[in-house]
Amino acid sequence: MSSHARITASVYTSHVPAIGVAMDQGRTADPYWAPLFAGYEPSRQWMVDNKPDAIVLVYNDHANAFSLDMIPTFALGTGDRYEPADEGWGPRAVPPVLGHGALAAHIAQSVIQQDFDLTLINRMTVDHGLTVPLSLLFGPQRADAPGWPCPVIPLAVNVVQYPVPSGRRCFQLGQAIRRAVESFDEPLNVQIWGTGGMSHQLQGPRAGLINREWDNAWMDRLIADPAGLAEMPHVDYVREAGSEGIELVMWLIARGAMSDLAGGPPPRVAHRFYHVPASNTAVGHLVLENIPKESPQ
Ligand code: DHB
Ligand code: FE
Repeated sequence: MSSHARITASVYTSHVPAIGVAMDQGRTADPYWAPLFAGYEPSRQWMVDNKPDAIVLVYNDHANAFSLDMIPTFALGTGDRYEPADEGWGPRAVPPVLGHGALAAHIAQSVIQQDFDLTLINRMTVDHGLTVPLSLLFGPQRADAPGWPCPVIPLAVNVVQYPVPSGRRCFQLGQAIRRAVESFDEPLNVQIWGTGGMSHQLQGPRAGLINREWDNAWMDRLIADPAGLAEMPHVDYVREAGSEGIELVMWLIARGAMSDLAGGPPPRVAHRFYHVPASNTAVGHLVLENIPKESPQ
């Protein structure tokens, strides 16, 4: 057993706020929602069987913790605790998100020394971009629980206000995060999650845009050709997947952290799911496992 931390898996999911509302209001069995939640059942079991010691959760804030006053491109949560944001209807009744100060400080040190100029955040609230993926993968949690089942290190990416980072830069950041995690000298099982997407446009004449074919081809490439996919320009996302489809660049951070980018074998697809509609959005979901190196017995 290695004495260092490892990224064992990456998890990808859309973060549609209406999914959180459906869970919080006990409407997951409604005919509209049941097929969506059925698609996450295998992953909830997989999470029970593969419980991480910590999650690096890549997401975007939607002008809740940040605003046009301050627009960090990549911001790592080095705090101990983050309360759910009030997005206009009161905060979600879910537990606070507890950080992992030691691992986050180490990632900050390592990634900044690898020339990524992260913003560090010790205090902020977290919105649906972060809490809806936790709800989808861990299931309903009592709001009075001390926290979610494991510590979570938020990594907030600006995909709301242009200029937003390129897919290539996101992919490189993921590779730097893998190196950071692997140099942390505790044998932690760390997952990295990429959230947002898939195709959706929430405003303007193209509001409601969904592009199933493009979404599924994009997931195929994320699995099999992530380096090529990282070269895709922003304009392709916006044209094909709608203005908010640009959130998908965050999935490239999680994908870049997988071992095959460092000479390991290709990841195993533990689960894949796609569903339309959820509110005005297409929902995509993937679980990719790193195959552990053969350890001598
Ligand atoms: C909606 C908001 C999001 O942030 C998102 O990623 C998808 C959908 C919405 O308001 O419906
Ligand atoms: Fe979003």
